[in-house]
Amino acid sequence: MTHFRLLTQNGQGHDADEEQLAIEVLTGLTAEPKHLSAKYFYDDKGSEIFQKITQHPDYYLTNKEVEILTRISCQLAHLIDEQEIDIIELGAGDGHKSQLIIDGFLKSGCKVNYYPIDISEKAMVMLRENIRPDSSLAIHGVVAEYFEGLKLVRSQSSNRQLVLFLGSNIGNFNREQSQGFLRKLWMSLSASDYILTGYDLKKDVNKLTAAYNDGSGLTAQFNLNLLHRINQELGGNFKPDKFQHYGIYNPVLGAMESYVLSTEKQEVYIKALQRVFHFDAYEPIHLEYSFKFTKKDIEDLCEQTGFTLVQNFTDANEHFIDSLWQVTKEV
Ligand SMILES: C[S@@+](CC[C@H](N)C(=O)[O-])C[C@H]1O[C@@H](n2cnc3c(N)ncnc32)[C@H](O)[C@@H]1O
Repeated sequence: MTHFRLLTQNGQGHDADEEQLAIEVLTGLTAEPKHLSAKYFYDDKGSEIFQKITQHPDYYLTNKEVEILTRISCQLAHLIDEQEIDIIELGAGDGHKSQLIIDGFLKSGCKVNYYPIDISEKAMVMLRENIRPDSSLAIHGVVAEYFEGLKLVRSQSSNRQLVLFLGSNIGNFNREQSQGFLRKLWMSLSASDYILTGYDLKKDVNKLTAAYNDGSGLTAQFNLNLLHRINQELGGNFKPDKFQHYGIYNPVLGAMESYVLSTEKQEVYIKALQRVFHFDAYEPIHLEYSFKFTKKDIEDLCEQTGFTLVQNFTDANEHFIDSLWQVTKEV
């Protein structure tokens, strides 16, 4: 039987989340150019649509990472070689990739304490349904932001830790933010702990563009869902059918960029902010960056942030890399 429990933080709740959303929407829609944060994509509906995106053939990232993790799951357990391990996952989603890694450790006879951390409650519900029970597996789910969750988990965990940051989530940060994030992770972990991070590699622009403009319009639905979310949670009157999804590769930045464009001149009122926002025809709201990497970028990031690169694992087409790093620190 698998033990699942939900760890919760003190003093945080739904009201605090809504206040934070309101503040960020106000800041983003009064900025020039307008922007909204990608972390708000994942309400219940957003998490459901994202799961469908991961199964869409145009969105190669998931297939490629699943190919890698299936191949290396036993090798990973062998490389890390512990009797008991705490696997902490940042932005776990529905947990189907995590299962592959957990399986490798269980097969090698290792006891696993799995701590998925995700800002989305819906992701945690899907994950709970997806992870197979096992007598050597305990799951402690945390609905929280990455580092809030990590702090909570670190206060309860005492074994060697392996932190998973999969799905190219790191690509949502620009280079400076990635460095800051990884360095903060390094500071949070102990000497010899591990992190396994998924990086989407630079490749044919047509392949990239198709992945973020899938043929079934799921990415468009996913992005426009953020406007529905603002309507629901903040009393907005966005008309999502008067906005258009636009995903494009920026070769100078080395990143896919996602926007929604206002297809006409219009005004949107948001009750919680008691404010009207003006949109010109074809004015963009920037939603997300998905930075792409070379092997050299990954090696540089590793060196800059205090880790030792243990091994890069790639798929047969070299579209994606899962990179295993170990914390180097004086004890
Ligand atoms: C692109 S999905 C990846 C899911 C999964 N790791 C995978 O590889 O398929 C991003 C996940 O991270 C979560 N997330 C996004 N921003 C977050 C944040 N700031 N703190 C915690 N979770 C976050 C989302 O809710 C979502 O489940």
